[in-house]
Amino acid sequence: MNDDLWVFGYGSIIWRVDFPYIEQQPAYIKNWSRRFWQGSTDHRGIPGKPGRVVTLVSQPGDVCQGRAYRVSQDYQDEVLASLDHREKGGYERLVIDIFFSEARFTSGITYHATPENPNYLGEAPYSDIAKQIASAHGPSGSNIEYIYKLHESLQQMNSTDNHVNSVLQEVRLIEANISRR
Ligand code: SIN
Repeated sequence: MNDDLWVFGYGSIIWRVDFPYIEQQPAYIKNWSRRFWQGSTDHRGIPGKPGRVVTLVSQPGDVCQGRAYRVSQDYQDEVLASLDHREKGGYERLVIDIFFSEARFTSGITYHATPENPNYLGEAPYSDIAKQIASAHGPSGSNIEYIYKLHESLQQMNSTDNHVNSVLQEVRLIEANISRR
């Protein structure tokens, strides 16, 4: 158990789990916030018309909720190789403390896209982020599907993320305007 690898997901890794694991649990990390600040040219957008996906932004005092997976030592190398490939559009591994409760935590890894990567987009008004999400598509599907699945997964964990909710609210307005036309 001690040599098993814990992987924390806060975006697509919450709902699209394409690797073997022994157990999974809702979990959180401290001093990070989830933001739609990373561009996606290989999953939810294409080069020249990137989508927007989530990354982690340092935010002392904040908590980011997601899901943690315990991967057997026997599968560690192959799981890391497959996640490195999946997240290659700008994410890097980050070693981090993963909390299950205030009294129970473990060290593990998560994938984090920093401003240094070429696909990083950074902060923008919610309406601009939503416009981009509403119109982007990539090899993994539409960007709209990404935000809906993220929101649904967070709801299932009874977790609220004000940033995700604010972007989704704007996306819904755009969808409502399109359907009224
Ligand atoms: C993650 O899910 O933890 C990383 C970001 C993503 O792939 O959406």
